[in-house]
Amino acid sequence: MSVRSDRAQRYAHVTGWGRYAPAQVLTNRDLERMVDTDDEWIVQRTGIRERRVAAAHETTASMASVAALRAIRTAGIEPDDIDMILLATLTPDYWMPSTAALVKEAIGNTRAAAMDVAAACSGFVYAYATAQAYVTSGMARHVLVIGAELLTRFLDYSDRSTCILFGDGAGAVVLSAADEPGGGLGLELTTEPQGAYMIWLPAGGAKSPPSAETITRGEHYIRMEGRETYRFATRTLATTALAAIEDAGLSPSDIDLFIPHQANIRIIEAVAKGLDLPMDRMYVNLDRYGNTSAASVPIALAEAVNEGRVKVGDHVVIVAFGAGFTSGAVTIQWTADPARGIAGDAAVKPDDVQVRLPVDWDSVDPIPAALAEVMARPGPVDVPLDDVVPGEPEHAHLEVSE
Ligand code: ACO
Repeated sequence: MSVRSDRAQRYAHVTGWGRYAPAQVLTNRDLERMVDTDDEWIVQRTGIRERRVAAAHETTASMASVAALRAIRTAGIEPDDIDMILLATLTPDYWMPSTAALVKEAIGNTRAAAMDVAAACSGFVYAYATAQAYVTSGMARHVLVIGAELLTRFLDYSDRSTCILFGDGAGAVVLSAADEPGGGLGLELTTEPQGAYMIWLPAGGAKSPPSAETITRGEHYIRMEGRETYRFATRTLATTALAAIEDAGLSPSDIDLFIPHQANIRIIEAVAKGLDLPMDRMYVNLDRYGNTSAASVPIALAEAVNEGRVKVGDHVVIVAFGAGFTSGAVTIQWTADPARGIAGDAAVKPDDVQVRLPVDWDSVDPIPAALAEVMARPGPVDVPLDDVVPGEPEHAHLEVSE
């Protein structure tokens, strides 16, 4: 990408959106057979009923590439029209190169700058804000923003407090420059490092490089202080969203739909309560995917638009929180034809996209032993793209306790 800055007033509109979820489903009943938990506890405390698990041949880059190409098809542009690729993830394929670089090649782009963004579950919102800065400053015309995660390979399936929460998937948007007002209107990003060790993955980095001992100690898995994280989330999500709404010169009642990070139905209910809004303003799909970290907001956004929950002119707020602690929100005025998304999704089959593998090297079997049985059973095939879990209710209608 060559940098060009002409300082003219520009707006960054969402012109494309797409998502991908692996076919294999891990239900609460499956988890009952692995750890001391039960479906009722998980549903009551989190709202999650099932989550997706990537197959052995899938990676963060492969899922990201499918979602990205779908977003590009929805936008009606070519892969080479993309000037910059920002990929938010805490589960990259490798420490280096960036997963964004692999995606660039897989989608057939030859000219974009590509980099990963590390802000955990807030990563997509951080990447969106960065993309918006590039577009509105005139430094990029089309930016591809992706959130993709393969969390099931970083979970301890003997730790019931974490393994029930997370799942795999990817979502993406294209932000495009336009002279007409619309797109991102208001923004808020926060980072509170006091929470740095509330959700973390201790080993594998410079502080504690991988070794037989770090493996024995189980330090390559996600650890979390659930209650502290819950407290942070309920305190921060509503205030972060409110700051982004006020930054747009609006008030909560002006917002047609919130796309909150899909971590826990009780956290989303607390946001609605904090903003004095009914739950029907909150989009919820965590019952079907669990927490997919940086992928959760773009998957939810794409599904909400494809389901007809967003109309041209609507105000939408994307809002997330995550490890760091980080949080972020963007108030968006929607301007794209919502009908384009389903055709964009249908235009790209997962097998259409190949991520190049290294020469003379192969990974070990990536499927966690605890999931081997689940992964061996036949998965749903040819899942309709507008109904990812046939027969499931469209939205979560959950009885939850405080
Ligand atoms: N099944 C059954 N019982 C369980 C389970 C389980 N899966 N997990 C925990 N319990 C038990 C606990 O051991 C505890 O038992 P005790 O009272 O005998 O000690 C009891 O249930 C209550 O545990 P709490 O942790 O208080 O349960 P809580 O209601 O807080 O729910 C949860 C736990 C769901 C993890 C909640 O705290 C939460 O959602 N926190 C936020 C997590 C989150 O969103 N993380 C993602 C951050 S995003 C990112 O960047 C990765």
